[in-house]
Amino acid sequence: MKALAHYGTHILSTGSSVPSICVTNHMLSDTIDTSDEWISSRTGITERRILPSNQSIIDIATEASVEALNKGFLKAYDLDLILFATSTPNDLFGSASQLQTSLGATQAASFDITAACSGFVIALTVGHQFIQTGMYRNILVVGADTLSQWVDWSDRTTCILFGDGAGAVILQRSSTNDILSFKLNTNGSESHQLRISCHTSVKNHATQEILYPQKLQHGYQYLTMNGKEVYKFAVSAVPASIVKCLNQINIDTDKITWLLLHQANQRILETVADKLKITDDKVISNIKFYGNTSAASIPIALNETFNSGHICNGDIIAISGFGAGLTWGTILMKWNIIQ
Ligand code: COA
Repeated sequence: MKALAHYGTHILSTGSSVPSICVTNHMLSDTIDTSDEWISSRTGITERRILPSNQSIIDIATEASVEALNKGFLKAYDLDLILFATSTPNDLFGSASQLQTSLGATQAASFDITAACSGFVIALTVGHQFIQTGMYRNILVVGADTLSQWVDWSDRTTCILFGDGAGAVILQRSSTNDILSFKLNTNGSESHQLRISCHTSVKNHATQEILYPQKLQHGYQYLTMNGKEVYKFAVSAVPASIVKCLNQINIDTDKITWLLLHQANQRILETVADKLKITDDKVISNIKFYGNTSAASIPIALNETFNSGHICNGDIIAISGFGAGLTWGTILMKWNIIQ
């Protein structure tokens, strides 16, 4: 990795957007057998945002991107690449091109990265590579998901967890490097623990042997999850990943200013922090208001914490994403944004 480090990656700016419709735990308890007490004590979630039917993922991804462009004093035309981390695209062929058009980023190449709740961390490391090699100068990395469209709203074991949103970060080529280290992992043998499986339904079983392609109809099942196994995976894999990243640059846990984990469950955030002996005041959390927004959760939390004036130049942020795949990854970042 170091041999390629001709250029540094600067985090130029951030943005985020969430839909206006707010669904509280109390509202959910009117339709399914659950309670605000159960959801908030087990997950830390009080409410989540849901995309209205007249909006698309591209609308919120565009809003988040425009905020990042404005704060970075860039025009969409200046972008060389758009990386769109989403597992809920509008189009199975990818939605990044729709985002490119919506922004008017006519000079930018664009493609989707599908890695669920790890998507943003993976996309950020991909963008970092393109900057380090000197290939591109300005890269927009967007994490957006609308899992509300893929959960079974009658399944209380899953639907209470998820919400919709979008977050964006602009990476810029620089003489200094804000990405201190990263580590990505996959364990495909456990992919069944959390998935939205593709299925093929056959319209006419009697003629199955001689089916023509048009008689096959593809679709996706609802999101399924083994909550206990995913929980155990997260609280063991994430601290180990962060320690590996710290070791890469020979610094200790006490140098971390902020711990920014994928916002899956408040108990996961606290357990990971405890394992690393990181105090609660360093743990970034907005899960209470948005639930798990998958690829969007990290950039939304990063943007909101920065906008509120809490993150300062020189701060070291440990960012970890984890989820379906199973995938997980960490980035250690040094904050260096001039306001
Ligand atoms: N409201 C009320 N009761 C519920 C419920 C709900 N929404 N969901 C489940 N229950 C019930 C179960 O049916 C079970 O009842 P039983 O004891 O009578 O069988 C009981 O509550 C305990 O369920 P359990 O699944 O053991 O709860 P848990 O403590 O493991 O918490 C999760 C469930 C989903 C909150 C937890 O496992 C978790 O957060 N896992 C990680 C999931 C995650 O983050 N996924 C995304 C990763 S990117």
